Amino acid sequence: MPNAQRKILVTSALPYVNGSPHMGHLVEYIQTDIWVRFQKLCGHDCIYVCASDAHGTPIMLKARELGITPERLTEGFSKEFVDDFSDFGIEFDNFHTTHSPENEAIVGGMYATLRESGDIYTRTIEQSYDEKEGMFLPDRFVRGTCPRCETEDQYGDACENCGATYSPEDLIDPVSVLSGTTPVKRESEHYFFKLSEYEERLRAWISDATLDKNVVAKLDEWFEAGLQDWDISRDAPYFGFQIPGTKDKYFYVWLDAPVGYIASFKHLCDRTDSLSFEDYWGKDSDAEVYHFIGKDIMYFHTLFWPAVLDGAGFRTPTSVFAHGFLTVNGQKMSKSRGTFIKARTYLDHLNPQFLRYYYAAKLGPTIEDIDLNLEDFTARVNSDLVGKLVNIASRCAGFISKRFDGQLANSLPDPALFAEFSGASEIIAGHFECREFSKAMRQVMALADKANRYIDENKPWVMVKDNDRIDEVQLVCTQGLNMFRSLMVYLTPVIPAVSDGARAFLGEDNWRWKDASIPLLGSRINKFLPLLTRVETDHVQAMVLQSQENTAVPIDDKSDDDMISIDDFMKVDLRIARIDKAEPVEDADKLLALTLNVGDTTRNVFAGIKAAYDPETLVGRHVIVVANLAPRKMRFGISEGMVLAAGPGGEDIFLLAPDDGAKPGMRVK
Ligand code: 2FM
Ligand code: ZN
Repeated sequence: MPNAQRKILVTSALPYVNGSPHMGHLVEYIQTDIWVRFQKLCGHDCIYVCASDAHGTPIMLKARELGITPERLTEGFSKEFVDDFSDFGIEFDNFHTTHSPENEAIVGGMYATLRESGDIYTRTIEQSYDEKEGMFLPDRFVRGTCPRCETEDQYGDACENCGATYSPEDLIDPVSVLSGTTPVKRESEHYFFKLSEYEERLRAWISDATLDKNVVAKLDEWFEAGLQDWDISRDAPYFGFQIPGTKDKYFYVWLDAPVGYIASFKHLCDRTDSLSFEDYWGKDSDAEVYHFIGKDIMYFHTLFWPAVLDGAGFRTPTSVFAHGFLTVNGQKMSKSRGTFIKARTYLDHLNPQFLRYYYAAKLGPTIEDIDLNLEDFTARVNSDLVGKLVNIASRCAGFISKRFDGQLANSLPDPALFAEFSGASEIIAGHFECREFSKAMRQVMALADKANRYIDENKPWVMVKDNDRIDEVQLVCTQGLNMFRSLMVYLTPVIPAVSDGARAFLGEDNWRWKDASIPLLGSRINKFLPLLTRVETDHVQAMVLQSQENTAVPIDDKSDDDMISIDDFMKVDLRIARIDKAEPVEDADKLLALTLNVGDTTRNVFAGIKAAYDPETLVGRHVIVVANLAPRKMRFGISEGMVLAAGPGGEDIFLLAPDDGAKPGMRVK
């Protein structure tokens, strides 16, 4: 591994903040976080920035639908992303937003340069316009019959049946999804970026950036088809930055989104004396800059983005790392199957370190999709992390604590075996560096098998019965614990919380990658506490069940399958309950544990209302509860009902309050 300290800036794609984070999002942020943690562990100067992607039509319309400002909508969801990412151990050096003064200033500066150089020009185009809503329609907001295969109800940009791509004007019988009316064609002046002039520079950048071969193949296809100039403006109404010097034109969200990478970094620089913006983004920067993205947004990151940066006088990224999509149980995530799992739902039931490990065990450097198979997840985590890894420590720790007062031996009885563990350092580091995480995990687990075999063969539990061999017990267990320690160092980027626990148990303050190769001898260890407990199948099932319950389908978007009959509804037993006790739940950001008096019985119910209600103000209050909901096992205990509330979430959750005169246990009609 090269020793010279590298200067690295890393980003993950900026998430749209018009919904909650889910398991699909986590693939990328966990992948990036592992890579960044690895670089930091090796002593490199590695900075990880991100931000919320807060602009665009869908965000504007969603806010409108909820009757709130887009700022409020995006702030609410940004907070969810920040909280959930943090609970998954994803550690940004900065998380900002594209709707920020820094971003507006940088986008404005880039625009001025590109306009000045002639790389941005205007042209009048014709677009679909919804006269009822008074707005131009993005392609996806027009549906109609495919002009090629005549399949009905297709999006305005591509046909899901035959794969044809076209513009909304080409659809047969186009309809605006906003108003249901037929769009008209209307002219408008738009701003274009001259991408067509960048082919040569982009080809040169691509060969320097050493992209994955599938990405290069895709790029070749795009070059073959010819690069088209890029429409970077949108007409009002739009939530974004106004184009300077215009009244009703805005920058298209995809122009200012990647600039958000730079703006987040600028925001960090402004608060950090030792950081120089120019060192990272100036034309002569010698820092490495990497963008982790999903394969669906390659066009933006490998064509538009480097071209805009180059034209605007910034350095271009060192490389772009694209990953594939997530499937769950081999299929697209599905709300009805309960496999559209929100990050928070996972956290309500399972340990985030498990998912980090599972994703690492599946991830490689290519754009191949990865599958989260829930049975395999349970089996693999239990076998690898609990059965192999933690087992090494739990088999050795007790002897050292009880028989040697926690003292490790001063030497290793099998240095050659330890050398296999330390010797793997470079190979494993190489795998991490190339984002070959699954290979790194295989290597670590093969070594874990070796460590367990060593303990099986030496049997300290037999030796300990023979007073003449007591010193050997200390030696064998020191060997075992040192092998465990090296593996934990290697796994630090993947399961940092487990690694923290292991480091504390071994009595060390800090680990660097190279510590895996230097044995820990003669020092005192602490009492061993279980570092992980097994994944329980019923916790996984409870998570799936809760995901099915979470499914909120917009009222006008329900198919017959989503409807329930009046008979189904009559099965729901709604009762008045009095809150006798309300307290926060340890390790759960959103939950309160409520003790409800439902007439002649008491129920414990977990309710996700912590952001909206101070627990003390709830005691004595009457609420409506679903009294015949089957008890559900959650990570924190059993929930025996559901309290009814309404609202968009976060601080805006309103408990349904019965009228005066309500008594606990009363049926609600
Ligand atoms: O596809 C998306 O989810 C975008 N919000 C990603 C933006 S990445 C960057 F360009 F900002
Ligand atoms: Zn078609």
